[in-house]
Amino acid sequence: MGSVKGWICVVLVGILGYLCMDSFDPESIANARVLVTGASTGIGEEIAYHYAKAGAQLVITARREQALQKVKAKCLELGAKNVSLIIADMGEPVDREQILEKAVTVLGGLDYLVLNHIGYTPFQMWEGDVSHARWLMEVNFISYVDLATAALPYLTQTKGSIIVLSSLTGKTPIPFAAPYAATKFALEGFFVALRHELTMRESPISITLCILGLIDTQSAMEKTKEKVSISAYPAKDAAFAVVSAGARRVKEMYYPWYVWPTCFFRDWFPQIRDWAILRTFNYEPQRQEQKAL
Ligand SMILES: NC(=O)c1ccc[n+]([C@@H]2O[C@H](COP(=O)([O-])OP(=O)(O)OC[C@H]3O[C@@H](n4cnc5c(N)ncnc54)[C@H](OP(=O)(O)O)[C@@H]3O)[C@@H](O)[C@H]2O)c1
Repeated sequence: MGSVKGWICVVLVGILGYLCMDSFDPESIANARVLVTGASTGIGEEIAYHYAKAGAQLVITARREQALQKVKAKCLELGAKNVSLIIADMGEPVDREQILEKAVTVLGGLDYLVLNHIGYTPFQMWEGDVSHARWLMEVNFISYVDLATAALPYLTQTKGSIIVLSSLTGKTPIPFAAPYAATKFALEGFFVALRHELTMRESPISITLCILGLIDTQSAMEKTKEKVSISAYPAKDAAFAVVSAGARRVKEMYYPWYVWPTCFFRDWFPQIRDWAILRTFNYEPQRQEQKAL
């Protein structure tokens, strides 16, 4: 019996060690030609800095030029070979049309397309704003499909990669985020199907879906303040995990530690899952209504 326990421990430690192993070599992305969307702040900004430190060539996009200029200056300080900006609103199809052509022209090709931007959506109960949901779908989903489609011929030439920022909310929906969850589920459906088709066509392109838990970006912290009882993890570390997973051509990356088990056990114990979700998100008005009853 004692030896069975011993073997179980060895196997568990082996699995944990394998899961924690990160064979990422920053040298592998030195000189890489990278397009990062939504890089003016948050995780996208940190992703740009990791590529910059490795000596990559960058094109970064967002709507706010001043914020992007600051990111550009820091990227150059950190070691980026060169950095160009594209100011574009991802909710506007005309703005998006030019992004890929411009990026490929200045970079002379494309190795990594990092799809990271998200449109602002309040963290609140669904109140029936269908036009907001439609707009969010355009920014968070259709624009990703648009850019990935335009990038496919270039990435085929370079055996390149598409990196898609998704969320635990795109695996396990949570309250206060109905339209956001819908856009992230859509990303999973599209990009996993596309990955299968690329494999069937023996395409050299890899697709990495990054499934993130709560990360301490300013926007996420402001939105979730007093509504969520879980800790947020550093954007810098989340960004490193994204860049590393993309370079290793991993199909799916989970950050932080609790995201993978949550996804793995999602449908095993649905009642416990739903109980845990409702314990994690605070809805004071409802609790007060209940107390008053
Ligand atoms: N933070 C988290 O807790 C968390 C958790 C799971 C997954 N994620 C995912 O990680 C990614 C980054 O999240 P984040 O927290 O870093 O976001 P963030 O801090 O809000 O940054 C969003 C970025 O997107 C840009 N953006 C916003 N609206 C845009 C538009 N209409 N057109 C073009 N660009 C636009 C913003 O720049 P401008 O305002 O200058 O345009 C900014 O650079 C997202 O895909 C998100 O879903 C985040």
